[in-house]
Formats: sequence, C-alpha cells, structure tokens
Amino acid sequence: MEPKLAVEICVGTSCCLMGGTQIVECLENMAESLKSRLDISYVSCYNQCTQGPRVRVGAVMLYRTTPDMVLKAIAEQLEKPERGKE
Ligand code: FES
Repeated sequence: MEPKLAVEICVGTSCCLMGGTQIVECLENMAESLKSRLDISYVSCYNQCTQGPRVRVGAVMLYRTTPDMVLKAIAEQLEKPERGKE
C-alpha cells in the first residue's frame, strides 16, 4: 500500500491571518479520493511567521503559501515515481 503523503500546515495566528485559513479550508474540501492519500497535520508555529503561511508537503517546505501552491506541490509529490520506495 502506498504510504500517505505528509502535509503539515501551520495554524499559528500569524500564518492564519496571512491566508493559512484558506489553505486549511481548501484541504478540508478536496476530493476524498485525494485526501485519503494524505496525512494532514497541523503545527502551532514554525517560528518563521514573517514567511507564512508555512506548509510542508513531504520534504518540501513552502513559504508565503497559497492554496494553489499547496495543491500543485501535492500533485507533484504524489506523481513522483520513487514515492513509496523509501
Ligand atoms: S505562525 Fe506560522 S510560522 Fe509562526
């Protein structure tokens, strides 16, 4: 079975005010077939608040993130042929 892709979203106050809330809503409303392939978790702060919203998708850390950036990073990571072979 394919391992789930870790997606970690900062839900600290600063990141939420800079658009993190829209990212959370975007992920919560995505198709269940896609969401079931993700392991979504939340962190309170990465201590890099001026570069928020901060989101980690697999090993890739995103800065000043938008929902579209997160969806694109998820699609790229899920399509990697080497996924699941680690
Ligand atoms: S609130 Fe997100 S990095 Fe601090």
